[in-house]
Order: sequence, then C-alpha cells, then structure tokens
Amino acid sequence: MRFHMKSGSEDNEIVAATATAEHIRKFVFSGSPAERLEIKIPELLQGAYSFYTWPCAPILAHFLWERRQSLAGKRILELGSGTALPGILAAKCRAQVVLTDNCILPKSLAHIRKSCQANQLQPGVDIDVVGLSWGLLLNSVFRLPPLDLIIAADCFYDPSVFEDIVVTVAFLLERNAGAKFIFTYQERSADWSIEALLKKWKLQALPISMDDIGKESGVDLLEFMGGHTIHLLEITRIESDGTINNT
Ligand SMILES: C[S@@+](CC[C@H](N)C(=O)[O-])C[C@H]1O[C@@H](n2cnc3c(N)ncnc32)[C@H](O)[C@@H]1O
Repeated sequence: MRFHMKSGSEDNEIVAATATAEHIRKFVFSGSPAERLEIKIPELLQGAYSFYTWPCAPILAHFLWERRQSLAGKRILELGSGTALPGILAAKCRAQVVLTDNCILPKSLAHIRKSCQANQLQPGVDIDVVGLSWGLLLNSVFRLPPLDLIIAADCFYDPSVFEDIVVTVAFLLERNAGAKFIFTYQERSADWSIEALLKKWKLQALPISMDDIGKESGVDLLEFMGGHTIHLLEITRIESDGTINNT
C-alpha cells in the first residue's frame, strides 16, 4: 500500500498448547534490569483473523513500550484489536484503554476479554472492550470516552474497507482535538493506497522511523516480520485553516 510520502527468540514463544490448537503466546518487553513486562496472548491458529497475533502487533507494541513513560494516564483506543497485544501493553503501562473489534463478531470480542484476563486485566474495570465496526457510527461510538491516541495493527489488509477505517479515524480525530492515529500496516500490494481517502477526509499521514524499535528489549523486528514489509505511520487531522496537528 502506498501512502505517497517520502518515501523466535525464547522471549517470544508458545508456552502452552491444548488439543484444540489453542495456545498461549508469550511476549516479553524489557528495559533497565528492573523493567520486564510479560504479556500472555491466547491464540487460536485455526480461527479467524482476530484469534491470531499478526506481525504488525508486536511491532506496534514495542513502539509503545519504548514510550511507556508517556503512556500512564493516556486515553487510548485500539481499532481491530484481534488478540489486542498493543492495547494490553498500553493498559499494563497504566494507560486507560478501550479495545475494540467488529461488533458483529461476539466470539472475537470474547477472545479479547480472554486476552485481558490472561494478563490480570479485568474487562470493565481495568480495561474496556467495545464492539466497533469500521464505518458504522453507532451509539457505542458516540459513547466512547475522550481519547488522546488511537492505535491499530494490521487493519489495512482489505482495500474494500479502507474508507470505512479512514471515516472512523476521521470521526474520532474530529471529536478528540489533538489526538493522533498511530498504526502499523503490512505491505500486501504496491497498488493499494489510502492517499486519496486521506485527502478526502482531511487527514495527513507521516511515516515513523522503525529503526530503534525493539532495541531496548533486545528484539530483532525482522524476527516478527517473517519476511513481510511492515510500516508504522501517524495520521493527524488537517485543521480547517490548513495547519496540521503535530503536537
Ligand atoms: C488482520 S487482523 C489484525 C488483528 C490484530 N490487530 C493484530 O495485528 O494481531 C484484523 C482485525 O480487524 C478486525 N476487523 C475486520 N473487519 C472489521 C470491521 N469492519 N470493523 C472492525 N474490526 C474489523 C478483525 O476482526 C481483526 O481482529
């Protein structure tokens, strides 16, 4: 996908498996000797998209981890959470997090709750889980709390829903002055582009360097990427006077 801009270690292992092919995948984030966060993600490899952690998710999670000092108290919403690694990491770093996935997929939402519980986060108490379908501005979307940051990992995988995602992001950024949308996407076709959609919805995308991501935890991002090309981008609103919110 073009945006037309310039441009298995032991810490990441499957730690338990059952005959139903459900397993727990462990992700470790570390910093100074005293800092270590382990997140356990239940996965169902034979399930649909939302039951498996896609390569984009650990990359976004490591990006957030490296900014963990700034996450405490931040109000963050994750779109298309799936197994919700980035959102759960943010909640463990004391952000106020709302995890979302398609409201027509109750099993996916139940799986998100399971991911939360696997990490001692009680849905409805420590973290919120809400049905949010891209492009559908239902009451639940209007009831969302104020947000500082919207995140997503690997949601731009089907061009037929690109505008639905962009519309949802434009709506959330308009309601939350100063908020940003930061997301990872996997390049699946050089012909895909959201450039025209960004222009239509008065949004601006900027690439974020991935050079240092994972270094603190001693993680090689290529290990997660598995040969895919993954990008990290930030989208903000172009204000009516033409200025770009880049705070
Ligand atoms: C490729 S998966 C990525 C999951 C997770 N973010 C990750 O990176 O591991 C795409 C996610 O988007 C969700 N999704 C697909 N269509 C959606 C829609 N129309 N509205 C909301 N979520 C949707 C899927 O249920 C799934 O969880």
